[in-house]
Amino acid sequence: MSDNIANSEVQAHRMLVGNPDWYDIQSANQFNLLTTLGLREDHYLLDIGCGSLRTGRLFMPYLLPEHYYGLEIQDWLIQEGIDREIGQSSIDLKKPIFSYDKNFTLTSFDQKFDFLLAHSIFSHTPEYEVRKCMKEAAKVMKPNAIFAATYWPGSVSSTDKSWMVRAEFRAEHMREMVEDAGLEFRPIQWKQHDLQSWFLVLHKDNELEIPDMGDVSRMVFLEEQLKLTEDQLYTIRNHPWVRLGHKIKYVFVWLKLLKQLGKFRKGSIKKYIGMRYDYVSKTIAGWFSQPSEKTKIDK
Ligand SMILES: C[S@@+](CC[C@H](N)C(=O)[O-])C[C@H]1O[C@@H](n2cnc3c(N)ncnc32)[C@H](O)[C@@H]1O
Repeated sequence: MSDNIANSEVQAHRMLVGNPDWYDIQSANQFNLLTTLGLREDHYLLDIGCGSLRTGRLFMPYLLPEHYYGLEIQDWLIQEGIDREIGQSSIDLKKPIFSYDKNFTLTSFDQKFDFLLAHSIFSHTPEYEVRKCMKEAAKVMKPNAIFAATYWPGSVSSTDKSWMVRAEFRAEHMREMVEDAGLEFRPIQWKQHDLQSWFLVLHKDNELEIPDMGDVSRMVFLEEQLKLTEDQLYTIRNHPWVRLGHKIKYVFVWLKLLKQLGKFRKGSIKKYIGMRYDYVSKTIAGWFSQPSEKTKIDK
């Protein structure tokens, strides 16, 4: 854990958007997903509920100036993100556009987008806000736009009418809300630390070739498993009992060696030296002896 994270004062803007220990990796997951889906620097991105710029701090340097748009209701969170995560100089350079609209009025930006992102938003919103957001999204998505979002799938949809700590929706319910806005609902396999599920929202007549997210996700999953196994191996190797076992093993190895040396000493040394002496003396004698018949003929 970095010094920054350990500092509780710094944690406030991080804690408010999720588990602060995952602040970094949640940024990376979102950035990796959108770039895997084809996000390029000249695309326009709308980050719905951008919070303390957890991902904005990665997308902004990547995108061209004035291509990152953020919607957020808590302006102080964005300010904290600027002050503590990305810095005013990046804002001056990349000129992001923010809106503090409370009703998901995505048209207020007066801009059509190539990518939209709603990370950890529909995992808190009531149904009517999901519907509102989808209908607004349909108006601002370019023909081949990709809207990536997360939600918590559940066996029963939440029915609260306001922002929830954990809102769940049945997958079929989420599909119906997306389709009700005239859009296509496409679930994808993409890793997510808090176990929300990712899905894409597309125009029905899109001409997109979405890469097989399963393969990428599986590769990432296997890499994580490898790292986990390596960590476990490290822990096992460094366990006091295992280290003691190793020391005992070395004692046995040394004992065996000493035993063999003892056997060797009992008469073998003399025999060994005798053999070596015989071989060395014959070799030296060979150097000073007369050339063989064959050598004479060759000359
Ligand atoms: C769980 S946080 C996720 C923040 C960000 N997407 C991330 O991954 O770091 C949810 C964010 O949505 C914002 N939010 C809540 N209601 C909203 C609304 N109606 N419009 C825009 N943002 C909203 C909250 O203020 C909060 O910053």
